[in-house]
Amino acid sequence: MRVIVPLQDVVQGTGGLFWGSVIPCALFYFLQLFLKTRHRNHNRQPPPSDNLPPPESSTLSRSLSPRVRGSTTSAYVSARANSVVADSPYYVGLNKVAENPYQPIHNLDGVIQLGLAQNTLSVDLIQEWIRHNGSAAILGTPANYGCLGITDHGFMDFKVVVAGFMSQVLEKPVFFNPSHMVITAGANPANEILSFCLADYGNAFLVPTPHSPGFDEDVKWRTGVDIVYVPCRSTDDFNLSITSLDQAFYQAKKRSQKVCGVIISNPSNPTGKLLNRETLLDLLDFARQKNIHIISNEIFAGSTYENKEFVSMAEIMDAEVHDQDRVHIVFDLANELNVPSFNVGVIYSYNENVVAASKKLAKFSTVSAPTQRMIISMISDTIFFQDFIKTNKLRLQKMYRAFVAGLEQLGIECTRSSGGFCCWADMSRFIRPYSEKGELELWDRLLNVAKINVTPGTSCHSIEPGWFRFCFSTLTEKDIPIVMERIGQILKTAS
Ligand SMILES: *[C@@H]1O[C@H](CO)[C@@H](O)[C@H](O)[C@H]1NC(C)=O
Ligand SMILES: *[C@@H]1O[C@H](CO)[C@@H](O)[C@H](O)[C@H]1NC(C)=O
Repeated sequence: MRVIVPLQDVVQGTGGLFWGSVIPCALFYFLQLFLKTRHRNHNRQPPPSDNLPPPESSTLSRSLSPRVRGSTTSAYVSARANSVVADSPYYVGLNKVAENPYQPIHNLDGVIQLGLAQNTLSVDLIQEWIRHNGSAAILGTPANYGCLGITDHGFMDFKVVVAGFMSQVLEKPVFFNPSHMVITAGANPANEILSFCLADYGNAFLVPTPHSPGFDEDVKWRTGVDIVYVPCRSTDDFNLSITSLDQAFYQAKKRSQKVCGVIISNPSNPTGKLLNRETLLDLLDFARQKNIHIISNEIFAGSTYENKEFVSMAEIMDAEVHDQDRVHIVFDLANELNVPSFNVGVIYSYNENVVAASKKLAKFSTVSAPTQRMIISMISDTIFFQDFIKTNKLRLQKMYRAFVAGLEQLGIECTRSSGGFCCWADMSRFIRPYSEKGELELWDRLLNVAKINVTPGTSCHSIEPGWFRFCFSTLTEKDIPIVMERIGQILKTAS
């Protein structure tokens, strides 16, 4: 069998087959867009306005009258949309980088990105693999050339490969059942789908803080579900306390707010701490007592270092039969693979109803068939893959140590991280006044004077002012001295 690709001969080289298919599709798309725009311009409707006659009496000729076209009332946008538009420092920083990104050779003066929890330290290995095997992987085998089957919540063979991959990542013989899996376009939709499935409008989840910036949105934006923040403190090493969870639960109950679950992140983003087995068992007891759910965000499961044991909730479920239908895990495959732009998340739930509902909801966040095929081939290339996991962990650990040592020389202490792509740094002695205002002033100078984008603790709902999240794994070691020099300049003027 031969695939017919219109422009294959025009577009030469190894990527010929791929680009030969993509270019005609793109041309067709733009043609449609062009025709649609013309069509729309011919049939332009009047914008809704208070002084307009009712819609049924409006005609084309009237809508073209100058009075209506000059109307100044803007079209109504929902209150939901307006609340989504508001920007936090987290997004202000990301936008600054997007406008003027630092590049070692071409733009030394740009803004350095330390605000994104992504890892590109080993992306060179993945690029190399894609260069050699990419086209063949995307096109698949003769049996699946035509994008067969339903892909909304992930191909079955994709889930089988992911199941194997997850136990490889955990480095333990944990069994993952592919039929408990729903594939989504990243971890954000995975969390949103779970909050949709486990809580009704106005219900709440307990979420320990500091948590990752932007996390609120996954849980709250579209579902109308609420979050009750449960602070972890520096004096406790940011350890999760069941007593605090318990208090927050009762305070919510007093306000007549129904709590449906706890959402934890392990390894924690931003503190990089791991939850030990005992804490996980305590959490399960707590959830059973209160009859609520647990969502365990394990999106950095494969990104641990410093030889600390990572215990997945899946491992505990595998070992003992707890009441499993209240436990749900989120993984992020794209994180583990160093290709954030692949956008592949996994919901792993032990609850049949949640899996069934999530499969349907996943239609709004599907992963494209070519991406699934590419990852199937990549993970199935065992020799390549085992080497990749090992190399990536070593690079991550090296980068973490070098970065934290750099901060230490400036007098900035971090909590001891064991996983993830960030460190959680105490800059409280450099802020004045000691308050959220002082923290945001320092953040502003780091961003606009030093041209460093970091995340202020307020964006992570930290209750102690002066803490900042530094994500180090989109840099190279060569960038570290430049980062430290820029921070140093700001601290000199601060103290
Ligand atoms: C992918 O390419 C590499 C060369 O970079 C090769 O060694 C490997 O066998 C290829 N894998 C597959 C599955 O073809
Ligand atoms: C935090 O928890 C770890 C165990 O995970 C423990 O070793 C440490 O002492 C705790 N820190 C505090 C301040 O309680």
